[in-house]
Amino acid sequence: MVKANAFLPGLEGVIAAETAISLLDTDLGQIIIKGHDLIQLSTQNDYLDIVHLLLEGSLPTEAERKASEAKLKSGYEVPEGVTTILRALPKNTHPMDALRTGISALGGYDAVLDDRATSVNKKRAYEVLGKIPNVVANSYRILNEQETVSPLEELSYSGNFLYMITGKKPTELEERIFDQSLLLYSEHEMPNSTFTARVIASTQSDMYGALMGAVASLKGNLHGGANEAVMHMLLEAKTVEGFEEMLKSRLANKEKIMGFGHRVYMRKMDPRALIMKEALKELCDLKGDQSLYEMCEAGERLMEQEKGLYPNLDYYAAPVYWMLGVPIPLYTPIFFAARTIGLCAHIIEQHDNNRLFRPRVEYTGDRPAL
Ligand SMILES: CC(C)(COP(=O)(O)OP(=O)(O)OC[C@H]1O[C@@H](n2cnc3c(N)ncnc32)[C@H](O)[C@@H]1OP(=O)(O)O)[C@@H](O)C(=O)NCCC(=O)NCCS
Repeated sequence: MVKANAFLPGLEGVIAAETAISLLDTDLGQIIIKGHDLIQLSTQNDYLDIVHLLLEGSLPTEAERKASEAKLKSGYEVPEGVTTILRALPKNTHPMDALRTGISALGGYDAVLDDRATSVNKKRAYEVLGKIPNVVANSYRILNEQETVSPLEELSYSGNFLYMITGKKPTELEERIFDQSLLLYSEHEMPNSTFTARVIASTQSDMYGALMGAVASLKGNLHGGANEAVMHMLLEAKTVEGFEEMLKSRLANKEKIMGFGHRVYMRKMDPRALIMKEALKELCDLKGDQSLYEMCEAGERLMEQEKGLYPNLDYYAAPVYWMLGVPIPLYTPIFFAARTIGLCAHIIEQHDNNRLFRPRVEYTGDRPAL
């Protein structure tokens, strides 16, 4: 038996898995995904390239790209039974809970649910990934008693996703920026949700169960839920001055400011946030209204001065989604949808080279009297 180490709250710094998928290299300031720098990928490639990279291990050739796009498109439709289940949910259901339910229901339609062969798991990942935009957009529409929208195959994967959310065909710029946001969210080493998914997969449970656990993890505002919280702050604050005052008063109350800080980056800027900051600038320039950008920059300056903390991706993704016309309750489901590919890669890796996660505790309770 391996000797247990000291307890580290939050498992900070603990190496929980061996992986060939990704690494946050904070010394070099790189997010390495299968040998590539995510930030470089975000300026040269698109989301579908990352899907191929994460599932097949390499960036696709043109033919491979078309083939994986075709695989995704063939899985766009969601079984009627899943929609029926979503319709039966109470209308005040949280969109992340509806998403979790949708993924759970999809599991019932998998005829080879207990087959964990790599090839079957990969096929399953393409299937789930094809359906996720549909589940995200239409579950929200159902909860809000709106008409559901059918996927438009003539659009790109990301273009269709944004279309299903807003009901409008996106412009080229909107599609590019939305795609870039999905790419930036696609994979990020071992956040809580990925750890959750791997822990579940390590019992030989199936991909749907592992993804559902990850949805629940990502819902929390210390994780994916932060992007929605950021937008609520910005809307409540209204102006640069209002935002500065709000942040100061929340800091004085020892509150955590959503969109700042990160377990791994903590005292450095999340490099993904910079890319979304540029995207926000572009969208604000186009609109001829810099107010959101100016508020975000002021918040960034203030947090650096007051706390030495820097924005994470959620801080700039939130106003970008706002400018793209995305309803706020969908920000976290979109993060999850984008991360589905990274999660599937981790679940497959765990299934392929498994050892059950079963840690120990530092017991602080009483012991029976001797
Ligand atoms: C991401 C996060 C959960 C990391 O948490 P962690 O690694 O457990 O770090 P801690 O919460 O222990 O924070 C360490 C210190 O920085 C402070 N801090 C960290 N993030 C902060 C924030 N967003 N606002 C204000 N203070 C913050 C803590 O108060 C703590 O200060 P202290 O040592 O004086 O008590 C944390 O930074 C946070 O809650 N951020 C806001 C939520 C968010 O944006 N989540 C998305 C993450 S991608």
